[in-house]
Amino acid sequence: MAAQNPSFESLASGDAIIEARNVSVNFGDVHALIDASLTVPEGQVRGLLGPNGAGKTTLVNVISTLLSPTSGTALVNGFDVTKQGKQVRSIIGLAGQYAAVDNLLTGRENLEIVGSLYQLSRSEAKAQANDVLERLSLTEAADRPVKTYSGGMRRRLDLGASLVGRPKVLILDEPTTGLDPRIRIELWDFLKDLVTEGTTVLLTTQYLEEADALADEITLIDSGRVIAEGTPSALKEKIGGSSLVLATRNSAEIAEAARLVAAIGNAEPVIDEDKASLSMHVDSDSGAIVQAAQALDSAGIAVSELALQSPSLDEVFLRLTKGGN
Ligand SMILES: Nc1ncnc2c1ncn2[C@@H]1O[C@H](COP(=O)(O)OP(=O)(O)OP(=O)(O)O)[C@@H](O)[C@H]1O
Ligand SMILES: [Mg+2]
Repeated sequence: MAAQNPSFESLASGDAIIEARNVSVNFGDVHALIDASLTVPEGQVRGLLGPNGAGKTTLVNVISTLLSPTSGTALVNGFDVTKQGKQVRSIIGLAGQYAAVDNLLTGRENLEIVGSLYQLSRSEAKAQANDVLERLSLTEAADRPVKTYSGGMRRRLDLGASLVGRPKVLILDEPTTGLDPRIRIELWDFLKDLVTEGTTVLLTTQYLEEADALADEITLIDSGRVIAEGTPSALKEKIGGSSLVLATRNSAEIAEAARLVAAIGNAEPVIDEDKASLSMHVDSDSGAIVQAAQALDSAGIAVSELALQSPSLDEVFLRLTKGGN
């Protein structure tokens, strides 16, 4: 968080505000991170992506001073996370993967306590709590104990707690997991506002459309190593080819359609059951669309959409990571 200390050296815009240098973390025999490096310029939204168990939370924990690296180091605004933890904590706001709010207190009380921890005046803590409650659509429930909140409300409150004090650097580990689509999109808008005001955001997410919508650049981690980095469009160009996108008229037929097109490309189709649609990576000039049309027609499956598009981040993810838990 950011009870802004005037003695902090301010970095010029464009300079690195988060820098991880060759960070390795071992848990016994498990190499959770291996020589991971990351440089995030001030004012950027950086998406940290990777399969379950890739090492995302481990890296987030090192950067937020919750975990000491086995080797390597990380700096936040020039402060070393192992030697200057207090200074680092004074400029970051963290919402971890699992909610950390007090169930017996009300939402408002939880936020005001965070404000007082950061030595905001009582009136400032109240004002910021109000602002956060409003922005996260929690005003109505503000004075109820958190134990009466739904999972999504709890998640929002936890996120809200990371915003009190208006941190210079916001670190969010899967901030929108379990939130309904409307709240998720509201939250994206909110994060975009914070970034416009100068906040740097490091966020992990399992929703690749979220990374596509928010992140200036993405760092892809797999099995503890950074395996790719770049803007969403650069990553899409890196894998090349196109995305075959189709939707079936009858939603019950999407699984069968997936089986048919899987035989055409040499990639795994990504199915969206809700939209009865799928996408799959194909070589651009492979004739895949004609083959797909023929295969679906022979099987008597009617489509409402069949097109070639530029690849999605889902496809980048599937192509570049080994996947799996
Ligand atoms: N405290 C711990 N003790 C032992 N192993 C751990 C510990 N914390 C993490 N690990 C292991 O380190 C690896 C990386 O875990 P991490 O939680 O960083 O993954 P993640 O990318 O955040 O995954 P997810 O997407 O599931 O949240 C995993 O193999 C995990 O089992
Ligand atoms: Mg995690």
